[in-house]
Amino acid sequence: MAISTSSSLLRYRKLAKRDWLVASLGLLLTVFSLSLFLDLTSDSVPFVDHNPTITSPSDLVKLKLSNKAKERGAFCLDGSLPGYHFSKGSGSGSKSWLIHLEGGSWCDTIASCSARAITRLGSSNYFEREVSFQGVLSSDPSQNPDFFNWNRVKIRYCDGASFSGRPEAEVKNETRLFFRGQLIWEAIMDELLSMGMSDSKQGILTGSSAGGLAALIHCDYFRDHLPKDASVKCVSDGGFFLNVPDVFGKPTVRSFYRDVVKLQGLDKSLDQKCVARKEPSKCMFPQEFVSNIRTPVFLVNAAYDYWQIQHVLVPASADLDKSWAKCRLNIKECDAEQMRVLHGFRSSLMDAIGKFHQNKASGMFIDSCYSHSQMLKPVMWHSPNSTRIQNKTIAESVGDWYFNRKPVKLIDRPYPCNLYCYNMNFT
Ligand SMILES: *[C@@H]1O[C@H](CO)[C@@H](O)[C@H](O)[C@H]1NC(C)=O
Ligand SMILES: *[C@@H]1O[C@H](CO)[C@@H](O)[C@H](O)[C@H]1NC(C)=O
Ligand SMILES: *[C@@H]1O[C@H](CO)[C@@H](O)[C@H](O)[C@H]1NC(C)=O
Repeated sequence: MAISTSSSLLRYRKLAKRDWLVASLGLLLTVFSLSLFLDLTSDSVPFVDHNPTITSPSDLVKLKLSNKAKERGAFCLDGSLPGYHFSKGSGSGSKSWLIHLEGGSWCDTIASCSARAITRLGSSNYFEREVSFQGVLSSDPSQNPDFFNWNRVKIRYCDGASFSGRPEAEVKNETRLFFRGQLIWEAIMDELLSMGMSDSKQGILTGSSAGGLAALIHCDYFRDHLPKDASVKCVSDGGFFLNVPDVFGKPTVRSFYRDVVKLQGLDKSLDQKCVARKEPSKCMFPQEFVSNIRTPVFLVNAAYDYWQIQHVLVPASADLDKSWAKCRLNIKECDAEQMRVLHGFRSSLMDAIGKFHQNKASGMFIDSCYSHSQMLKPVMWHSPNSTRIQNKTIAESVGDWYFNRKPVKLIDRPYPCNLYCYNMNFT
């Protein structure tokens, strides 16, 4: 539970430069995403896909709509075909597969799912035809030292329920919405298995945000469908959503999850041991089922996860007088009382991962940054200036753990101790 900090002049100089970079990138990001961050039904990882300055043509990977999904009736919310982007492995990575599940929050009502069905998070009609593979998906060894030559797949998220909705829950009236996330997951898995994944020696299921939650939900399924002798593990990035009340004391996220689970019939897709004992929507919180997962799991999560702070802890509905407005956009603007609340959020995370932490096979990288979904962005995943704990990048940490080079259970000290942080600034 420690992180080395040094206050050498050099580091402060670096930090100053980095602040400038953060501020300018933050401004750029804000243009694309401001509207997306305003309520619980939105989420976004806009940084990577839309920032032209870090995209080279070789990173662009074409979309493929799934044939297997067509055969099986596994559709996006609007009835369109789901899809994925596939970059073939080579050399020592040709029998290794890394699957990334895209994130983007959830929809919890007919109205919000209908609205979503006319966006790229609910319909392949709006998918980008190609996306940039960065961070853990990158083919550049300097950016992605351990997995650059693996087969890498990004599965697009278009069902609104972490790849776990069920057709039984579909509404049988004129409302044409498809709740088939579980079928999408199974169909695309089948398709990848037939493309060579059934012969794999190594496998990682990962995902960010709502996709990071999906990676936990489907972790054992993934393990069970790869060869018995393959080394298979799961890495959840920003997917550890906490069951905590908001600053008003209202169970905002809990009610939201209850609605998602009920609307899309998730109870059959969630951990069955948990569902047998608890109200099913509780089982959508990783703290309730992460210890039941048989496959080794690694958690990458910011202790001051900005998405959770903006949507779970201080949703707009709990900040009517706007006293949190500045702090929600930039952690450096939080006053002492607000910081006390944010440290409390971090403590809840520490409590929630307590039992998981004791598991020998598990790994973690819990940084004290104002961040979320850190594996697809080079400035967070792996670069000379990216987020570090004990001088290790997220890429090095995940690699050390996956290949059993050494155990990795890194937990940062509370904010603002870490000088190697990539803090988001939305102002
Ligand atoms: C990273 O830090 C180095 C050393 O301070 C600096 O020269 C470089 O410009 C920085 N790179 C980025 C992308 O900020
Ligand atoms: C269909 O049923 C759902 C749930 O009962 C309801 O919310 C929706 O308004 C109905 N749609 C139409 C077009 O009747
Ligand atoms: C941190 O790690 C880098 C290599 O990744 C190394 O060059 C550097 O010396 C390390 N710094 C400290 C303070 O250990």
